[in-house]
Amino acid sequence: MNSRNIKAWAALQAHAESLRDTHLKDLFQLDGNRFDELSVSTGRFLLDFSKQRVTGKTLSQLICLAEQQELRLWIEKLFTGEKVNDSEQRPALHTALRSPHDDPLQVNTQNVTEDVHCSLAKMERLVEQVQYGQWRGFDGSPIKSVVNIGVGGSNLGPLMVCDALSQYASSPLCRLDVNFVSSMDGSELEKLLPTLEPATTLFIISSKTFSTIDTLANANTAREWLLKASGEPIDAINRHHFIAVTGNPKAALKWGVAEDNQLLFWDWVGGRYSLWSVIGLPIALKIGMEGFRAMLKGAHAMDVHFRNTDFDKNLPVLLGLIGVWNVNFLNIHAHAILPYDGRLAQLPSFLEQLEMESNGKSINRDGKRLNYRTCPVLWGEVGSNAQHAFYQLLHQGTEPVMCDFITAAKRYESEGEELQKQHQLSLANCLAQSRLLALGDSAVASEQDASCYQHYDGNQPSTTIVMNELTPESLGGLIALYEHKVFVQSVIWEINPFDQWGVEQGKNVALSLLAELDALSDDGLDASTKGLISYVQQCCKENEPHEN
Ligand code: F6P
Repeated sequence: MNSRNIKAWAALQAHAESLRDTHLKDLFQLDGNRFDELSVSTGRFLLDFSKQRVTGKTLSQLICLAEQQELRLWIEKLFTGEKVNDSEQRPALHTALRSPHDDPLQVNTQNVTEDVHCSLAKMERLVEQVQYGQWRGFDGSPIKSVVNIGVGGSNLGPLMVCDALSQYASSPLCRLDVNFVSSMDGSELEKLLPTLEPATTLFIISSKTFSTIDTLANANTAREWLLKASGEPIDAINRHHFIAVTGNPKAALKWGVAEDNQLLFWDWVGGRYSLWSVIGLPIALKIGMEGFRAMLKGAHAMDVHFRNTDFDKNLPVLLGLIGVWNVNFLNIHAHAILPYDGRLAQLPSFLEQLEMESNGKSINRDGKRLNYRTCPVLWGEVGSNAQHAFYQLLHQGTEPVMCDFITAAKRYESEGEELQKQHQLSLANCLAQSRLLALGDSAVASEQDASCYQHYDGNQPSTTIVMNELTPESLGGLIALYEHKVFVQSVIWEINPFDQWGVEQGKNVALSLLAELDALSDDGLDASTKGLISYVQQCCKENEPHEN
C-alpha cells in the first residue's frame, strides 16, 4: 500500500495548509489553555507539546493516521515477538530484556524471559567478582580499571548511561574506573593505555557480530600492550584480561576468549537497542547491578505505558506523530537534541544512531521506493553550550529546525547553594530558549528600536521533556521513550527500523581499499580515490630515511 493515498494523509495536508500562516505566538494568543491541552505527564515525566505548531485538531488527525496505519497492531507484533525485522526475518525483542520474571514470553520454542534472566544472572556474578576484587589480573592483582572496546550500539548506549549516572557510582563497590574506546584509528587507546596499569585492567570486547573491524583492531592493540607489559603467554592474558560480550561465541572463541569469559545475547537484540542486555556490562560495573536493574525497571514502565495507554495520552506515540507532522506536513528536516543537563552530554550521539540508523531509509517494507520523506537529520549538544555555538542558526538562520529540550526539574538538593543556583540558571536558559524560538520578538517585553539584525522570527517548534529528576529509572524510561518513538514513526512511514543495510557496503569498500594503500593498482578506482592514495603514499615516502 502506498500510505500517501490514505485518507488521513490527505486530511493532514489540507490541515497543514490551513495553518501555514499561523505563527506559534498566534496559537498561544488564541488559546490560553494551550499548555493544559497540549502537555501530558506520567509519574516521572512531563512532555510539553504546546510549542509545536499543532492544535487539538492536528493531534486527532495524526491519531487517525496512526489508526489507519494499524499502529496498535504493530505495537502488539513488537511486544509478542513477531518478526518485525522482516528483511532479516527476526523479531526485535528489546522490550523482553527489561521485562520482569513474572511476565513470561515464549517465542516459538524459546522461553525468552527465562533466557534473559539467566543471562542477567551470569552478568551479575561477573560484576560481583570484579567489584569484590575476586577477578584477578595476570599477577594476582584485583581489577581497578575497565575498558569497553566496541562501536555503534556496542559503545554509545553504555557510554551515554555511564556518563549520565556517574553520581550513582558512589558506593565503595563501584570504585572501578570505566573507560570506553571505539575509534578505528587507535587514538583513544594511544591516550588511555599509558594511564593504565596492565595487571589491573580488564578489557570488555563488546561486539554483537564479533566481526567489526574497528573493535577487533582495538582489541588486538590492547592485547599486544598486555603481552608486552606482562611477558605472560597469550592464554593467560586472554583468561585474565578479556571478556567478550557477543552474539557470536564461535568468533569470540577463535579470537581467544573462552566460554567462561563470554556473556552472550541473541540475534533478536538490535545493536542500537542492546544496552539493556549484557552489552550493558560497563553500566553494571559502574553503578552496580542494583542501579542497572533500576534502569531496566524504568524502561519497563515506559513499555507498559506505550503498550496500554490510549494514543492521545501516549508519550512515545505523541512524540513520534508530532515528528511525522513536522517532517511530512511542515517540511522540517532538521532535528536538534538539546539536553539542559551536562550529564546527558552523550544523549545526542546516542539518539543520532538510534533514529538515523533505524529510520534513515527510503525503501518500504514491500521493497518499494518511498515518495515521501522519512528520518530528519538529527544532531545536538548540551543546550547551554550550543547556545554559544549553533543557536544563531536556530534563531535567525533560514533552516526550519524542530528541537527537543530535555531537562530534570530537581537536582543538587543537598549539594550546596552555588550548585543549586547553577541548576536554576540552566533551567531558566532552557525555558527562555524554547520561548524565544517559539515566539520570536514577542517573547521580549520591549519590541521597539530593534534593527533588522536583532529581529527574531520565532515559530521554530519544540517539545520540552521534563524528568522529575535524573535517576537510573527515569533515564531508562527516557531511552525507552525514544526507542518507541522511532518505532511509531517507522510504522507511519512503513519502513523496517531494525535493519541497517546502508552501513554494510562502506565496510566492503574499505576492505578492498586497504590493499590499495600498500600497492596502487589502477583496477577500477575512480580518479579522486587514486589521487588521494597516491598523495598519501608520496607523503609516507618523503618521511622515509634516505639511503646513502
Ligand atoms: O556498522 C553499524 C553497526 O552494525 C551497528 O548497527 C552496530 O551497533 C555497530 O555496527 C557495532 O556492531 P557490533 O556490535 O556487531 O560490533
